Amino acid sequence: MKQRLDRFLSEQTIYTRTDISKLLWKRKVSVNGKITREGEIKIDPQNDRVEVSGNEIIYREKIYLILNKPAGYVCATEDKTDPTVIDLVPDQLKRKDIFPAGRLDKDSEGMVLITNDGALSHRILSPKKHIPKYYIVKLRENFVENYERLFSEGIVISGGEKCLPANVRACPNAENMAFIELFEGKFHQVKRMFESVENSVEKLVRTQMGSLEIPENIGLGECMEILHNDVEKLLKQTPFEEVFKRFSTKFSSYWINKL
Ligand code: URA
Repeated sequence: MKQRLDRFLSEQTIYTRTDISKLLWKRKVSVNGKITREGEIKIDPQNDRVEVSGNEIIYREKIYLILNKPAGYVCATEDKTDPTVIDLVPDQLKRKDIFPAGRLDKDSEGMVLITNDGALSHRILSPKKHIPKYYIVKLRENFVENYERLFSEGIVISGGEKCLPANVRACPNAENMAFIELFEGKFHQVKRMFESVENSVEKLVRTQMGSLEIPENIGLGECMEILHNDVEKLLKQTPFEEVFKRFSTKFSSYWINKL
């Protein structure tokens, strides 16, 4: 479907209407190689090539980004005091309608999905849809074997809320680390679960959502776009033992040093 050029630019970038008028006026915008100053012309977003200052603006109705969140950033679109995960999105992937799907605490690290797809975000976050999220935590005290049973029965956390059954395992070769699978995301949930068993979380990293692991090639603070296959993986469930086995084989060489 055809769309006005100025509307296209407004939807697909971070430029404001004023920025767009200025860019047009300064002859920075071209359509199929021809400079235009007219924002009202109609373009075909799927087939016309739009460039701003020589950089192509690629049309995407929906966008899916995976961020490897460092500590110190909040999962919000705006914040009065702290930098947000959106600040870490490079300009060429940034647009006004993206938001983090779910929360990691300011001091937590790891996988965050940033998207403009509200329906997908809902599917990933709703406990009813059974999309697991996986975390590795460094604990103050060593892992105790009965955690497995307590977590699987549903831990009652501070405030009296009962959590859904969760899977937890001690990490191989590291008695003060645990790997945990959750199907919900209550406020500070993992930390509160370990507090309920008289332990506490010193560091937390989200490693996987659904069947999609955080890609190894994205460093802390980096972001990459994922495409159709990986979005499908986000929505797929793999049996816990399988995920844990895969995780275990990688574990000793990688995570022990990292945490
Ligand atoms: N649980 C927590 O306690 N913190 C997070 O950041 C994510 C899950």
